[in-house]
Amino acid sequence: MDDNLIIPKHVGIIMDGNGRWAKKRGLIRSMGHRAGADNLKELCLHMASVGVEYVSLYAFSTENFKREKKEVDFLMNLFVTLFKGEFQTIMDHNIRVVFSGRVFPLPKKVLQAMNYVSEKTCNNTGAVLNICLNYGSQSEIVDMTKQLCQDYKDGKIELDDIDPEFIQHHLYQDLPPLDFVIRTSGELRLSNFMLYQSSYAEFYFTDVLFPDFNTEEFDKAIVEFNQRNRKFGG
Ligand code: FPP
Repeated sequence: MDDNLIIPKHVGIIMDGNGRWAKKRGLIRSMGHRAGADNLKELCLHMASVGVEYVSLYAFSTENFKREKKEVDFLMNLFVTLFKGEFQTIMDHNIRVVFSGRVFPLPKKVLQAMNYVSEKTCNNTGAVLNICLNYGSQSEIVDMTKQLCQDYKDGKIELDDIDPEFIQHHLYQDLPPLDFVIRTSGELRLSNFMLYQSSYAEFYFTDVLFPDFNTEEFDKAIVEFNQRNRKFGG
């Protein structure tokens, strides 16, 4: 990649199109998720190596629980396998893993694997990988609002404490705003992904299905990011 390119500090990826990738090959949908997961490792290491400091991945939305049980079960097992199987790679690359989302109704084995990887990596100082799992942005804002109302009732905060930055610090994870949001597979929507955090993000939509969204595709997206004129309302 060209050294002169500006690298976004925080990149979000809506990893869409796994099911279609599998269907095109006459495979079951779960095989698309497996292929997406296989693609993810190299992609994440590449993003960290070019200088992306924060990566947020939309792994499973609160709405995804409506899918067929066998697909949901496959994904839950895949998460456990990945968090355990890739743990050493994560440590070797000094990556800190955090999670965004609701606990209920995630299976215990998934929660245990999540806790393990987030606790063991909490002192790592490299790139931060924010995995949005059982995540929905509207639920995140609801959960935060309830907590802040409680804190106000308990006298822990005052009304004037609340401003845009305060809200940002009180979402599931206290991360900088998104600079760049990538969605694969041709859909042109946010689907409840980090609405507050993407207020001033640049968006990149590509027809490429997630399992095929490799490091070269990412580099193409970065070139496009560099052609944008970010004004932040100014
Ligand atoms: C959307 O494609 C993809 C998902 C719901 C799952 C994404 C999960 C992975 C890539 C596995 C590993 C992830 C992590 C972070 C550990 P889709 O099934 O909606 O595709 P379709 O629109 O073609 O049906």
